[in-house]
Amino acid sequence: MVMITTEQLREKFLDFFKEKGHVILPSASLVPENDSSTLFISAGMQPLVPYLMGEPHPQGTKLADVQKCVRTGDIDEVGDAWHLTFFEMLGNWSLGDYWKKESLTWTWEFLTSPEWLGLDPKKLAVSVFAGNDTCPQDKESVEIWKSLGVPEERIAYLGVDDNWWPTGGKSTGPQGPDSEVFFWSSDDPVPDEFDPSDDRWTEIWNNVFMEYNRTSDGNLEPLKQKNVDTGMGLERTVAVLNNFKSVYETDAFDFIIDFLKEKFDLEELSSEDIRAVRVIADHLRASVFILGDDAGVVPSNVARGYILRRLIRRSIRYGRRYTQDKFVGSVAEIIIKRYSRVYEEIDRNKNKILSELDKEEDKFRKTLSTGLKVFKKIIIQPEVQESGMIDGQKTFDLFSTFGFPLEIVKDLARENSLRVDEEGFEKEFKRHQEKSRTASKGMFKGGLVDHSPQVIKMHTATHLLQQALRDVLGDHIHQKGSRITHEKLTFDFPHSEKLSDEEIKKVEDIVNEKILQDLPVHYEIMTPQEAKKSGAIGVFDERYDKQVKVYFIGDYSKEICGGPHVKSTKEVGKFKILKEKSVGSGIRRIEATVE
Ligand code: ALA
Repeated sequence: MVMITTEQLREKFLDFFKEKGHVILPSASLVPENDSSTLFISAGMQPLVPYLMGEPHPQGTKLADVQKCVRTGDIDEVGDAWHLTFFEMLGNWSLGDYWKKESLTWTWEFLTSPEWLGLDPKKLAVSVFAGNDTCPQDKESVEIWKSLGVPEERIAYLGVDDNWWPTGGKSTGPQGPDSEVFFWSSDDPVPDEFDPSDDRWTEIWNNVFMEYNRTSDGNLEPLKQKNVDTGMGLERTVAVLNNFKSVYETDAFDFIIDFLKEKFDLEELSSEDIRAVRVIADHLRASVFILGDDAGVVPSNVARGYILRRLIRRSIRYGRRYTQDKFVGSVAEIIIKRYSRVYEEIDRNKNKILSELDKEEDKFRKTLSTGLKVFKKIIIQPEVQESGMIDGQKTFDLFSTFGFPLEIVKDLARENSLRVDEEGFEKEFKRHQEKSRTASKGMFKGGLVDHSPQVIKMHTATHLLQQALRDVLGDHIHQKGSRITHEKLTFDFPHSEKLSDEEIKKVEDIVNEKILQDLPVHYEIMTPQEAKKSGAIGVFDERYDKQVKVYFIGDYSKEICGGPHVKSTKEVGKFKILKEKSVGSGIRRIEATVE
């Protein structure tokens, strides 16, 4: 009997926190805004970083949501029982509002009260931060757990690799010790004592007590406010609560797996078949969500587009073992149908999702067969046979000539008991693609946006730049994309022609003039309708909440934005345009910096 579905858990979670006075936010886009530290949102807190750092949130201090997340750091593990590239994260936040007592008490209530999940407390255990040189043991949480009835032997004390978020305590940005809840996910009798290394205990919920900020020089400083950030993986928790042996048994996946079994005519599944259908189900679900997002990512060989390409192509390669026909669109259709109920952008972008998948499938099918033949020739070469390894150059050639992303070569190698020189491949890849920097490994792991003074200055400069471009080129200019790093800002906008040197100079001069006028920067909270009426720049679609923040720079610029910004424009320094170029049909990019 299914105890709970993903639909039910999503709904219950949000109902519970609404009842506790939280405002429910829609999921933010999968693509981070003004944050170049990761390619995709990988945790519920990521879009909230400015507010965790102290910017007031227009919806208040108690928030909850279900956030779309993509994590590709473990892409090789997908196909086992638990790893996913796309998942939904349930989360609740206190932005300088409630603290440990309320948070842990609500966590316990939601999990154990018969009105909510009604889990048997005997099947639960918790872990807390053990303490280190920079931060003491979290005794407060221990006392709270005990007062809720958790016995001492069910409390584990762990270090920064387990009970600190972000894990490891090295990332910059808001962070702190955390306390995790584990559920006994086995039919075996529950032991009295909690042993966190026993994997029959599965983590289901994490409460992070974000009271620190780590600066870029590695120091830990107190944040302006004490925040709570929690996260619960929807699919995994539903699997565990139902005593399933994998996430693929949940209603988030069972319909895809059933469809694939029928489509591929599979009855008895070997372990390789199980892996193949799981990879296809996971990767195509992730692809539907990435393509269905309003951020407009499409398959390509760089950054996000490359991740998407890898997900789609890997599915196609696995599917080809079972059918020579195109199949991706039919799988995507059922995923779209199912998720349109929850995410209206999936429904709205349906045609785009299907047509992009179709194009990519056509493109890859053209090179796939020949690539597979070449691969077969490679693996009988004496040096490959002797070393058991496919070198970086050959792996890269399979990518550059036949469009085989690394994972495909790795899958093929594994199936032939060979290995791939991944480092060699990365080296070749980097050498050939200057732009691949952001697509390279480090970026896949996730991290935090940096709210250093330099980044904040560039953010304000970006607002001035947008208005200056409108002054010089016209009101058709609006932001199609914006990234900010320590070194530079990039701003993409629709415009059919290359900007002349005079136009560039004019834009630069206006921005510097506004900086020198030392205009005050402030924001007001209003409804999206009021914002539109006031003439604020923004994309007025359902992406916005009921209340938005509009940032004013003097009376020169008005823009819907979460912040943060400098207090007055003189702080920005000197603005300099570095480059102007095309980044696709009708879209121009300006790269600039402040000094
Ligand atoms: N941000 C925390 C996590 O992702 C809740 O686990």
